Amino acid sequence: MPNSRKSISGLSLQSGQRLKFEIICPPDKSLTHRAIIFSSMALGKSLISNPLLGADCLATCAAFRSLGVSIDIRNIEDGNANVRSSIIDIDSPGVQKFHSARNSLDFANSGTTARLLIGLFSSLEGLKVEIIGDESLSKRPMQRVVSPLRRAGAKIDGVDGGNFLPIYIEGMKLKPLAHHVDKASAQVKSALLLAGMQIQGLSSVRLPKGGRDHTERLLKKLGAKCSYEVIENEEIISIEGPFNVPAVNYNVPGDPSSAAFFAVLGAIVSKGEVTIKNMMTNPTRVGFVHALERMGVSVKIIANSDHSFMEETADFSFSAPQSLSSVHIRSEELPSLIDEIPILAVAAMFAYGESCFEGLAELRVKESDRLEETKRLVIQAGGRARIDGDNLYIQGGDIENYGLFEYDPKGDHRLAMAAAVLAKRVGGFAFDRSKNVECVLENSDCVNVSFPNFFEILDLL
Ligand code: S3P
Repeated sequence: MPNSRKSISGLSLQSGQRLKFEIICPPDKSLTHRAIIFSSMALGKSLISNPLLGADCLATCAAFRSLGVSIDIRNIEDGNANVRSSIIDIDSPGVQKFHSARNSLDFANSGTTARLLIGLFSSLEGLKVEIIGDESLSKRPMQRVVSPLRRAGAKIDGVDGGNFLPIYIEGMKLKPLAHHVDKASAQVKSALLLAGMQIQGLSSVRLPKGGRDHTERLLKKLGAKCSYEVIENEEIISIEGPFNVPAVNYNVPGDPSSAAFFAVLGAIVSKGEVTIKNMMTNPTRVGFVHALERMGVSVKIIANSDHSFMEETADFSFSAPQSLSSVHIRSEELPSLIDEIPILAVAAMFAYGESCFEGLAELRVKESDRLEETKRLVIQAGGRARIDGDNLYIQGGDIENYGLFEYDPKGDHRLAMAAAVLAKRVGGFAFDRSKNVECVLENSDCVNVSFPNFFEILDLL
């Protein structure tokens, strides 16, 4: 793949000038995956409006096309050249009629596609598939879904006992089980629920609470007998199968994980004020909003925008304080801001005092070793960061030491965007503006995974 080198010029605000902007939140990645999966499983025609057409979600579309589902993507004009939107039309023979794929299914960089579809495919009797992925996905552990599925009778083979791609699945009639897993992972619970939809009887999964709950919310809305219970620090989600999901129309709300990059850019610029429209309000996704509030950012809901069938959304405003305070992120909070650590680390660089992010072991198996890479980014720009066990500490406020930097996010989209936001800030304020004030981001294309027009928006500021 060619190197997509991107130079990012800093913001050049005159003193006293404020950074004020408004964006429409890009569509949510998790919900687009789920809408594609449920629509592909349902017999007949479904429609998804405002889908995220990032590389990960396109990998999910490609997988179902290979199994016989018709999936068309069209762009729609709404009279405003700045507002582009798309629709995905899906026409499916239904989950029972999927045919085995002739070639291997390539899930590229997408961990959500891999984990969720391993769950679904292993429960479809007679289906045979081979799953491959890119270099990053091939290093990500799949045992977390493979082990519980095998206990239910799944036939899954792969590298290192089925822990890594390529993985081969022969769909089987699975038995209903009460699973107990030790990670607050939405991907694991979703994989087991998707399998549970095909299994006769009651399947359940018990896990530490707090992970995103989109799959179970949607299943309930779609009419499944799906229940939710909390016991101390754990949640138990059950599904009575078989459940045939109906064909419906979905409308995807805005992605808090994408919004976070621009919310933080506003927060680290003095007098920054950012409005983000149509962002999902689901409590399992907005941990970063609470973290920013604790750092002193004033957050307001200005309007409850639209009530999408999928999840509720609102328009949010984020206003920077005079100075940011450091923050302590406790490990229990992690599931609600699991994807926002790199950008919160950037915020912490501009906060006075030491910020602590606790219990980040899970970040080591994201699209990169995101714990090490976040530390590297901070240091590259002249900041101070250290890792102790699974905790990340950032000593913030050394703004005069921050300088131009070059950074390669190693294919990790969230690190690329966090680096770009940092570049926008340090390039504009730390230097004599008559000089070239650009940071360089190597392999910046990886933002296509979750936020294809990220640089278009950033470049407009
Ligand atoms: C996701 C769940 C999270 C998150 C990922 C998307 C999902 O992963 O990090 O970006 O859509 O279910 P984990 O389940 O591993 O926490």
